Amino acid sequence: SGPDTMAPAGQATGAAQARMAQSGAYLTDAQGARLYDTDHSLKAGPRGPVLLQDHHLREKIMHFDHERIPERVVHARGAAAHGVFKSYGTAATVSKAAFLAAGAETPVFVRFSTVLGSRGSADTVRDTRGFATKFYTEEGVFDLVGNNMPVFFIQDAIKFPDIIHAGKPHPDREIPQAQSAHDTFWDFVTLHTEATHHTLWNMSDRGIPRSYRTMEGFGVHTFRLVAADGSTTLVKFHWKPKLGVHSLVWEEAQIAGGVDPDFHRRDLADAIEAGAHPEWELGIQTFPDTPDQTFEGIDLLDATNLVPEELAPVQPIGLLTLNRNPSNYFAETEQVAFHVGHLVPGIDITDDPLLAGRLFSYLDTQITRLAGPNFSQIPINRPHSPVNDMLRDGFHQDAVHRGVAPYRPNSLDGGCPFLAGADTGAYIETPVRVPAATKVREAPESFSDHFSQPRRFWLSMSAVEREHIIAAYTFELGKCYEQAIKERALQVLANVDAELCAGVAEGLGLPAPEPTVPPAEVEPSPALSQVGQSWPTD
Ligand code: HEM
Repeated sequence: SGPDTMAPAGQATGAAQARMAQSGAYLTDAQGARLYDTDHSLKAGPRGPVLLQDHHLREKIMHFDHERIPERVVHARGAAAHGVFKSYGTAATVSKAAFLAAGAETPVFVRFSTVLGSRGSADTVRDTRGFATKFYTEEGVFDLVGNNMPVFFIQDAIKFPDIIHAGKPHPDREIPQAQSAHDTFWDFVTLHTEATHHTLWNMSDRGIPRSYRTMEGFGVHTFRLVAADGSTTLVKFHWKPKLGVHSLVWEEAQIAGGVDPDFHRRDLADAIEAGAHPEWELGIQTFPDTPDQTFEGIDLLDATNLVPEELAPVQPIGLLTLNRNPSNYFAETEQVAFHVGHLVPGIDITDDPLLAGRLFSYLDTQITRLAGPNFSQIPINRPHSPVNDMLRDGFHQDAVHRGVAPYRPNSLDGGCPFLAGADTGAYIETPVRVPAATKVREAPESFSDHFSQPRRFWLSMSAVEREHIIAAYTFELGKCYEQAIKERALQVLANVDAELCAGVAEGLGLPAPEPTVPPAEVEPSPALSQVGQSWPTD
């Protein structure tokens, strides 16, 4: 009764079918009819008009005309690699996920990206980087769709179109912010001060990584782990590069971007080809799953917050090794579809309002980007575990489903029993209590502190990192045309730290304002400084 992912009996299935696209000794058309010439259109005489009946010409041009698919609306520019994740088993006490059991080895596909640039843009721009990992586990696909920064610009997904519109190229000239006016980006992040922390990370050296191989990765949101006994733990995911964390300086990034816009893509592919397989340790910070979902006063549902490693150490749980380049960029890197809702038993979500919006957004955009609802059948997206779903038909349906009753239970097809309520290793949502509440469009009071976490980050920086941050703010804000935006930005910086504000104000030739909120009393977190990076562990 399950799907027969491909052709009738006796014919090739799966990967074999994919290879058949280029099989046989002769060139053929798409229907398999042998061609004798693919260089000349069919014409009425050598100098005569081209004939409409030339199916080979029409098929060839028609297909070429549709070779491009829409690029991702964000994270369009990317590079990816295959690899393996080996679990240490250290998370097995807090999560029942099979791929986290001791010794488990899971194939993965990882895509790194910039956020704002188009598919053909340069690698070394100042931006956040995506770090998305697809684990093909025996219990289904788990996607960890993270970034190289542990915090995000906004607390509620409803603002995502706004921050992206503010950061994308100007609508009139389509010139990227990084090369021209910066007004909209800085207008947004100074009016929505929750963006201060992420912006500070962007202006730090983390905004221009040396290589994908030397970037940290973060799941950003707080997730919930579920153990075999049903107990739950809140968790933040971290990727720690074995090569340590390294950045370019601004001048290097500028030169690399001009000389080799593919600098990061080339670096990743070359390293893997040379056998220098990049490695990251996956680590977790764990927090008790208390009803208020805070830790040491930090609201764990606010994605503009991180939890300092000094308060909650990152515990290593496994090793990721990237060991194989994609063989076809389009088939794999371009068509891969990640989703924060791709979860396996043992890993669940929390009520972070940013995460909630993402759970809707990725599936929705992929229906457009990958032309219909069947993109999970594209080879790079296929689970490595059996699939027996109730989804039928639709654009680009690849499976030849059998049976007459695509519903369960039914009395016609037999097939798999209806398993409602039975714990058969199924994904069961954690029965978290939802407090009785009135519907509101508002943020909790705990989301209103926008300056103490940025201040901690600033205070944790070494002297040279501070110098780079001041230079970055000065350069980027210097590209704004609107004086009022620069002044508002200085006000935001004054609320973070007086030294930071004074440095940028001097660079811009403007007076440094007084803070409007008292400086938060926070301790530095040495682990935030790249200079203070204590990893790798060996
Ligand atoms: C794509 C990370 C917030 C919408 C991506 C990708 C990453 C990522 C890594 C690239 C995936 C790939 O390589 O294909 C994040 C992180 C976020 C965040 C870490 C915050 C913590 C959001 C929010 C939304 C959103 C709030 C919308 C409400 C999208 C969309 C794509 C995308 C539409 C393109 C997906 C595709 O075309 O396949 N994001 N994102 N993201 N993100 Fe996010």
